[in-house]
Amino acid sequence: MTGSASGIGAAVVSALRADGRDVVGVDLRDAEVCADLSTADGRRAAVDGVLGLAGELDGLVVCAGLGPHVPDPRQIIEVNYRGAVEVLDGLFPALRGAAVAVSSSALTMTKWADNPISRGEEAAALAEAGEYAGHLAYSWSKNALTVAVRRRVAEWGAAGVRLNTVAPGAVDTPLLQAGLESRFGDAIRSYQAPIPRRGRPEEIASLIRYLLGPDAGYIHGAQFMIDGGSDALMRPTEF
Ligand code: NAI
Repeated sequence: MTGSASGIGAAVVSALRADGRDVVGVDLRDAEVCADLSTADGRRAAVDGVLGLAGELDGLVVCAGLGPHVPDPRQIIEVNYRGAVEVLDGLFPALRGAAVAVSSSALTMTKWADNPISRGEEAAALAEAGEYAGHLAYSWSKNALTVAVRRRVAEWGAAGVRLNTVAPGAVDTPLLQAGLESRFGDAIRSYQAPIPRRGRPEEIASLIRYLLGPDAGYIHGAQFMIDGGSDALMRPTEF
């Protein structure tokens, strides 16, 4: 479980431990494996650290992430995209059950064809993005993560490992709070959901717990918006 120390990740850890599961958390601090997923070395250390503690894994959740407000937008892509995909790939050989990647409803703000990550051109695109760089990096990173998940369905399915994506809307966590206090605060506050409140970390954790478990045995390659209905409200004809 990456991003285990806070927010949605911490709620997933609590839900799994309540089920009697042994969980290996990966985070910058307060985790069984402390590693920095923003660097290639840190990602390798995370994979090696998990494998050192657990030879086989029943499940994997890649949840660590940075919000659009962080000062260096390149870090957003490193953690949200590479930090998720390289941990998925690194731990795939040890996985026996299912994995979930935590994307975001912000992924729909980019189309893959327009996503510079698809061409390896994100550095140049960020250099031209100006004040919206963090916002764009966040959307690109989550869009690319969902594509990476969908592109793995054949290989993972053949190995008997299910892989799905959860894409939350606005959820009350330290990440969202930091965004609200940043210059993106007004944009976040204007995000409307037909269920007129923000999500709770426990509500996202509940879906992830289900997707990891045996009752979700035929769910593979799917993406679940869990956003109080926002996506359906804003894009009723696109799905
Ligand atoms: P959070 O800030 O409470 O938790 C994120 C965790 O990731 C923290 O424990 C943090 O230390 C860890 N992390 C960040 N950078 C790291 C790095 N370089 N190496 C290792 N760990 C690192 O945030 P929250 O809201 O629980 O976010 C979890 C995931 O959910 C993220 O991927 C986020 O993008 C996604 N998400 C959150 C939404 C929200 O409204 N809170 C909405 C949509 C998606």
